[in-house]
Amino acid sequence: MAKPLQIVVTGANRGLGLEIVRQLLARGEHVIATTRTGVIAPDSPLAALAQDRLRVHACDVSQPETIAAFAQAIVAQPLGGLINNAGVWGDAQSVDNLDFAEAAAMYQINALAPLQLSLALRPALARSKGKILHITSGLASISDNTSGGNYGYRMSKAALNMMSKSLALDLASDGILSAVIEPGWAKTDMGGPNAPTEVADSVRGVIAQYDGLALHNNGAYLSYRGGTMAW
Ligand SMILES: NC(=O)c1ccc[n+]([C@@H]2O[C@H](COP(=O)([O-])OP(=O)(O)OC[C@H]3O[C@@H](n4cnc5c(N)ncnc54)[C@H](OP(=O)(O)O)[C@@H]3O)[C@@H](O)[C@H]2O)c1
Repeated sequence: MAKPLQIVVTGANRGLGLEIVRQLLARGEHVIATTRTGVIAPDSPLAALAQDRLRVHACDVSQPETIAAFAQAIVAQPLGGLINNAGVWGDAQSVDNLDFAEAAAMYQINALAPLQLSLALRPALARSKGKILHITSGLASISDNTSGGNYGYRMSKAALNMMSKSLALDLASDGILSAVIEPGWAKTDMGGPNAPTEVADSVRGVIAQYDGLALHNNGAYLSYRGGTMAW
């Protein structure tokens, strides 16, 4: 019997990544969840999801060599999809108080790491004509930028959007699809308690768009609400 296709989810120990793993497992998917260390405390929410369809690996996406090592460990396995979810926000992002080192670190995690991981897993995704969904943000939209600020985050996610579009074009001949999705403003550590969107609702929308990713919307800037965002 053929081995089942697995879906890789990065940044899976909390927030949207954890809920993506939870909802994928609930419908019977096989999931490779990554966390910064790969070490799961027995009382952690990811530990509570433990079962034979879930495997956890270390992948610190701030470290290119760690990304390479993780990809090397799984690239021979059957992969149906990759959800590049791990991401960071910044503290000093205003025009009057801008931390360039923080912005550079954000660029590595939010933009370069998803590209590196996508390319490193390309052989596995090509074998199964897999999908790559990158979690972007509404703050990446240039046409929707009416408030300025948030330099490092906006720039890194806009770069992620551009990367995904190029990847959609470059990997189409391998049968691999790539799109970005904004998950709404969701109640996670990053989104904060005042965010209007429940994590489960955000992730339901993200997974529906993952399922709907096909040739007709390859390369799109998707919204968890359905449909697409203005670039
Ligand atoms: N929540 C929102 O309102 C919102 C809105 C738009 C976009 N997003 C995007 O959605 C994604 C998930 O965000 P979230 O709200 O769930 O954020 P979160 O609650 O802050 O969780 C972020 C996740 O990314 C992981 N991560 C950060 N740096 C990492 C690294 N160097 N290596 C490995 N993992 C790392 C974190 O792991 P650790 O626990 O080890 O730090 C955590 O699992 C992000 O890409 C974010 O930009 C969120």
